[in-house]
Amino acid sequence: IRQLVIPRGKNQPPLVFHYIPWFGSAAYYGEDPYKFFFECREKYGDVFSFILLGRSITVALGPKGNNLSLGGKVSQVSAEEAYTHLTTPVFGKGVVYDCPNDMLMQQKKFIKHGLTTEALQSYAPLMYSETEQFFKNELRLTSGSSPKTFEVFRKMSELIILTASRTLQGKEVRQALNSRFAKLFHDLDGGFIPLNFMFTNLPLPANRRRDKAQKEMSEFYMGIIRSRREGESDHEHDMISALQGCEYRNGVPLTDRDIAHMMIAILMAGQHTSSATSSWTLLHLAHRQDIADALYEEQVAKFGNPDGTFRDVTYEDTKELPLMDACIRETLRMHAPIHSIYRKVLSDIPVPSSLSAPSESTNYVIPAGDFILAAPGVSAMDPRVWEEPSTWNPHRWLDEKGVAAAAKESYSGATAEQVDYGFGQVSKGTESPYQPFGAGRHRCVGEQFAYLQLSVVISYIIRNFTLKLGTPEFPQTNYRTMIVLPLKGTTTFTPRKRAI
Ligand code: HEM
Repeated sequence: IRQLVIPRGKNQPPLVFHYIPWFGSAAYYGEDPYKFFFECREKYGDVFSFILLGRSITVALGPKGNNLSLGGKVSQVSAEEAYTHLTTPVFGKGVVYDCPNDMLMQQKKFIKHGLTTEALQSYAPLMYSETEQFFKNELRLTSGSSPKTFEVFRKMSELIILTASRTLQGKEVRQALNSRFAKLFHDLDGGFIPLNFMFTNLPLPANRRRDKAQKEMSEFYMGIIRSRREGESDHEHDMISALQGCEYRNGVPLTDRDIAHMMIAILMAGQHTSSATSSWTLLHLAHRQDIADALYEEQVAKFGNPDGTFRDVTYEDTKELPLMDACIRETLRMHAPIHSIYRKVLSDIPVPSSLSAPSESTNYVIPAGDFILAAPGVSAMDPRVWEEPSTWNPHRWLDEKGVAAAAKESYSGATAEQVDYGFGQVSKGTESPYQPFGAGRHRCVGEQFAYLQLSVVISYIIRNFTLKLGTPEFPQTNYRTMIVLPLKGTTTFTPRKRAI
């Protein structure tokens, strides 16, 4: 047993009490991480450590705690050391966490340059028509049909991959979705599980399927790139076009394999996050009829034609829908898809005294070799920051005139534009209490795309359906998956009389 106990230095943060040495607090944390974080914060303060299946994890909570890891220097904290054995078998080699951080920063710049205003403008109508087809042809829900009840996350997952592939991923991926690609995605996704975050190379059948699917999917993308290079190109705004021809600063071009693996990374990064966010938003709208009605009125006011139909949504329009924006923002406050963001500690991190100090008046030190965990969802649900944090209240983001309020600026931290992914400098947004897209050098590059996708999909749904929860109570949360999902979240869609 002594060998299972991880030795601890005297200035290390307090360790959460646990009975079984190697197992540590795995069950307590795994079942409901937020309950764990809030209860431990009561006992130990903002900085504490716990044992998770043989690893020592130090949690740093609150905006200053988030800053400690998300704003940490490259010499102090490493995302690649924390994530590579989970992500590299899924994304493939040479990109994201299977390369030096400086290369990832350049890859993110390439992706960001692919998400131009022009590209996003071209995506809006494609997303809308894909959503319309999905509801009409796939779900068979039109103005005359009877109400139908669905497990909302399952249906949103189908729709999100359709809208992403029609736009960002490119038309070849969209065409293949009906056959080969869907199976490959399913097998690849089967390897994206918390167990693979904790252990390397587990001989699971799911991991064998994952490895086979990774190889095939990578070849599939490389095939697209090759045939595009040889043929006429009319693919305009998709990400493959944007990445072809990109060069690292040292003049080395992205290889076909790099592009293929980046495309897989983008697919995986956006799929469950946006599916979960759209699902939670719909569940809340189904629960809060008054807000769903107000959202419908916002659509009528902005897009309604005199004959009761609606005009199409454009990218610019989605920026002028304050209530829609507030609904998505509020959903992300309460249900940030990623509850724990990890970094490996490379060199000792002194904890500032403002974050709590041990009794001997020396400051804590988080030792090299530990993992540091940021949980921005804790500050996003903190009663010291927000009034009634457990109530889904989009109006908190609006001023009394219903306009997206200036107050939101103080919560939102850096926008994607403000973040400098380049080489050394990190934005100030790392100390915000609202960080569903992360902060600092690893901050999300997909935020604008995700907002567009969510706004378009929800606009279509709210125009055409009234929603009702399929269960008497609002669904609980499932924390056992990589992404925070609703547990048995069903919604009944009733077609409205006037539209479609
Ligand atoms: C990073 C959240 C959608 C691509 C992140 C991070 C978070 C996040 C929290 C930081 C991870 C870390 O610090 O370890 C979300 C949410 C989304 C979303 C809530 C939707 C609601 C997307 C989409 C894309 C995308 C649609 C692709 C177009 C990325 C990339 C990174 C990232 C490339 C950078 C990873 C890194 O630098 O380590 N996202 N994301 N995300 N996201 Fe997103």
